[in-house]
Amino acid sequence: MSREPRRKSQPMQLAFPDGPAAFDCAAADCVIDALAAKPDSVVALPTGRTPVGVYSILPRRAASRSVLLCGARWFNLDDYVGLGVDHPMSYARFIREHLLDRIGASDRQVRLLRADAPDCAAECRAYDAAITAAGGIDLAILGLGANGHIAFNEPGCAWDRDTHVTELTEQTRIANAAAVSDPSCLQRSNLAPRLGITMGIGTLRRARRILLLVKGLGKRAALNALLQAVPDAQWPVTSLLGHPDLTVIADSRLRSPA
Ligand code: GLP
Repeated sequence: MSREPRRKSQPMQLAFPDGPAAFDCAAADCVIDALAAKPDSVVALPTGRTPVGVYSILPRRAASRSVLLCGARWFNLDDYVGLGVDHPMSYARFIREHLLDRIGASDRQVRLLRADAPDCAAECRAYDAAITAAGGIDLAILGLGANGHIAFNEPGCAWDRDTHVTELTEQTRIANAAAVSDPSCLQRSNLAPRLGITMGIGTLRRARRILLLVKGLGKRAALNALLQAVPDAQWPVTSLLGHPDLTVIADSRLRSPA
């Protein structure tokens, strides 16, 4: 498997596009640039409200730039332990509905976490093996939790881990339940799974490129922690500091102090 040469370290690139449409276009263009440079890129995909607009414009925008999405390989970042792919809260389902089905991605191109695997530890090992076999992650697209989590790596987690099962904070479970559009899930939000299965920060930091998407006023403290540029275990997003190819696209409302 051919790999792009590792690029020389450069400072974090930070942009505050003016408004939601510009945010989505800027993020989609980063993804398209990566796929133009390496059509068989291995891409890690986030769930949540943040990437919805990006996913919705990506197919048409890629086509308008004559960039094909059919050679890419897709992984998801995380999911709730125990949920099958048809569950309305399943991240695998979200990724399929919002992106993969829309671009007609084939089974050969897609490996999503099996959050309902009977042996989650074995699933974590198999997932890491699949990432390694694909040549490692070329582009990790990340959202950001209000408490600074990336994927399901919560405050205080270790920064050297690969895919693993983790306990979710109450803050994350509440925030994410509110993002689910299915009303039956909202009513049962106190029953949201307590465990997540997630790529670890070790995996994410080995990605050759990272695109961090920061949307929503509630992300101000987490973004500030990153911009203060001091690694802090209580803010997992600061584990990305020093990554050789980190781009941050942030909500323009977060440009100025509150
Ligand atoms: C969840 C996901 C994260 C995501 C975060 C932000 O916790 N595990 O990967 O980045 O939510 O979600 P939103 O984009 O809805 O703010």
